[in-house]
Amino acid sequence: MKRLLLIPIIATTINYANGYTQADRILDMQKMAKAMEAIQTGFFYNNLDIVNEGVDVLEKTIVKVRAIDSEVNNKDIYEKWINNNLKMTNKIRKKIIQKSEDIKARFKAGDAIQALQAYSKITQQCMKCHIQIRKW
Ligand code: HEC
Repeated sequence: MKRLLLIPIIATTINYANGYTQADRILDMQKMAKAMEAIQTGFFYNNLDIVNEGVDVLEKTIVKVRAIDSEVNNKDIYEKWINNNLKMTNKIRKKIIQKSEDIKARFKAGDAIQALQAYSKITQQCMKCHIQIRKW
């Protein structure tokens, strides 16, 4: 039984080693959107556990986000430069993790205003990538 449970985990790991697909990224994005909703719900219900749960998922997921294989292998140098902007991605990732930690600390300390501010900084980071990379 235990072994059966391990197989999908190994399969996923191999998948990641092979690269990062568009489907992987869409799934990660949806996970992060849900995590952000959870954090907001935690704010509204004044529930630290829900906030922490959302932060956890967000932090675990943002570290996986990067350019997908077809973007990394793009022959068009300009497009590749835009889509595989590692410097920007790393910076955004760092900020999101920092602000996530802020949310946890501030909300735990009863400072909902500061927690909310950190939350909105994360939203800005999400949109920064969407605007610059996605041109949304
Ligand atoms: C490094 C760049 C980057 C960052 C940072 C980023 N996104 Fe995205 N996001 C994308 C890209 C690229 C897509 C388009 C995915 C695709 O269709 O290939 C996307 C798509 C999405 C989608 C639509 C997914 C779907 O079902 O089509 C959602 C929702 C989303 N992002 C949420 C977020 C949230 C929430 C954050 C911040 C916590 C975030 N994103 C941060 C690049 C980013």
